[in-house]
Amino acid sequence: MKKVDVLLGLQWGDEGKGKIVDVLTPDYDIIARFQGGPNAGHTLEFNGIKHVLHTIPSGIFHEKKINIIGNGVLIDLFIFQREIDKLIEREVDATKNLKISKKAHLILPTHRLLDAAYEAAKGKDKIGSTLKGIGPAYTDRTARNGLRIGDLLHPQFMQKYNQLKNQHIEILKFHNFDYQTQQIEKLIFADYEAKWLAVIENIKKFDLIDSEYYINQALKDNKSILAEGAQGTLLDIDFGSYPFVTSSNTITAGVCTGLGVSPDKIGKVIGVFKAYCTRVGSGPFPTELINSDGERLRTDGYEFGSTTGRPRRCGWLDIPALQYAIMLNGVTELVITKIDVLNSFENINVCLQYDYNGTQIDYIPFDSEENLLKPVYTEIKAWNSNINQISTYNHFPENLKAYIQFIEKHVNVPISIVSNGADRTQTIFRSM
Ligand code: GDP
Ligand code: IMO
Ligand code: MG
Repeated sequence: MKKVDVLLGLQWGDEGKGKIVDVLTPDYDIIARFQGGPNAGHTLEFNGIKHVLHTIPSGIFHEKKINIIGNGVLIDLFIFQREIDKLIEREVDATKNLKISKKAHLILPTHRLLDAAYEAAKGKDKIGSTLKGIGPAYTDRTARNGLRIGDLLHPQFMQKYNQLKNQHIEILKFHNFDYQTQQIEKLIFADYEAKWLAVIENIKKFDLIDSEYYINQALKDNKSILAEGAQGTLLDIDFGSYPFVTSSNTITAGVCTGLGVSPDKIGKVIGVFKAYCTRVGSGPFPTELINSDGERLRTDGYEFGSTTGRPRRCGWLDIPALQYAIMLNGVTELVITKIDVLNSFENINVCLQYDYNGTQIDYIPFDSEENLLKPVYTEIKAWNSNINQISTYNHFPENLKAYIQFIEKHVNVPISIVSNGADRTQTIFRSM
């Protein structure tokens, strides 16, 4: 029987997961998202077009492949419809190859307002949420108040909807949050809500499934499945820099609960990381560069959020954090992305340890969110040349190969793919 391979991010998100899933899709029958929601922005580039996906798996451009939105994912009907419409502009009819779990939870319009109200109440301590309603919708799931895709088929859906909406309005009133005048997606609440509700009929055109049965049957039928992670390991609700995290388990364990597969069915775990680090939103970032090197990474890497457009914070590669992520996920192979963004540097730094109150450590302590970790760097001579057009590993400059080997030596997991540009074709498979 085949197993479910997993591809996920090892840093704070935006590692280039979408691009790599798209590249690997020809090897699989099914691509499935298992957690997160429209806080994700996964960018795919091919044939001169750039496309950003939020809820829909990154295998959608391969028309013969099945894409599944699993039970662990949150769906905002408005954003989902917009994604579907953008795909139609690219002549992709997702009704043909996209299936949605009936157990996936809904993000209601009022969840988005609650997200905004909670962030406003936190003031300077805000998480820096994407404000897509992720925290409040997962909260309702855990509190057993949530509404799911399958509920849309229920004759009393509107009654359930209004009940939950009214509960939310009471909370918003408590926060003195005037929901009627607040804008969502540049619309006042009533207009946004009307658009959200109007999508219900459209979603019924999709194959709404019991995805846990579908996926387990597919495995029995020897179909190959790739689970696509969103966000990154350092944003995991349990193991990220809490409270500056997202509200789901972004790690391999999340595949079991987010798709309904047992742990023994997990196959390869492909961990994606950037050749440096970025973070969007608040929270500790030991190797952050608030200087011209950080600016250069942001400019050369075009580091602006795919979902919110916010500038991403940039810094050097953090090996203890990478080792931590590899440990939590059981990573079996690595993908390094955006290596080309370092082209213009003469030297690059890599953090191998932290200085923590005067002691050198190589783990992440409990109170890491208090910005107590100072990076201890090793300087590496860079390649200082344009490598974007190189298509075989052997043709890489020696210093670049040395950088890759240096990382492998420290994390003890092979790097099997190197991404040297945003386009699908700029992907180098390394024969191990
Ligand atoms: P994801 O959320 O992990 O899918 O990543 P995002 O799409 O949010 O951010 C990654 C960004 O880097 C996107 O704009 C990609 O098009 C781009 N990208 C991916 N791989 C590479 C690469 O190897 N080099 C460069 N220069 N850009 C890349
Ligand atoms: P992809 O899948 C980068 C960050 C937000 C914020 C924190 C909590 O594209 O890698 P939330 O909206 O979940 O309440 O925000 O998590 N965040 C991401 N950062 N990439 C993402 O997804 C992210 N999804 C959430 O910026 O700091
Ligand atoms: Mg992203």
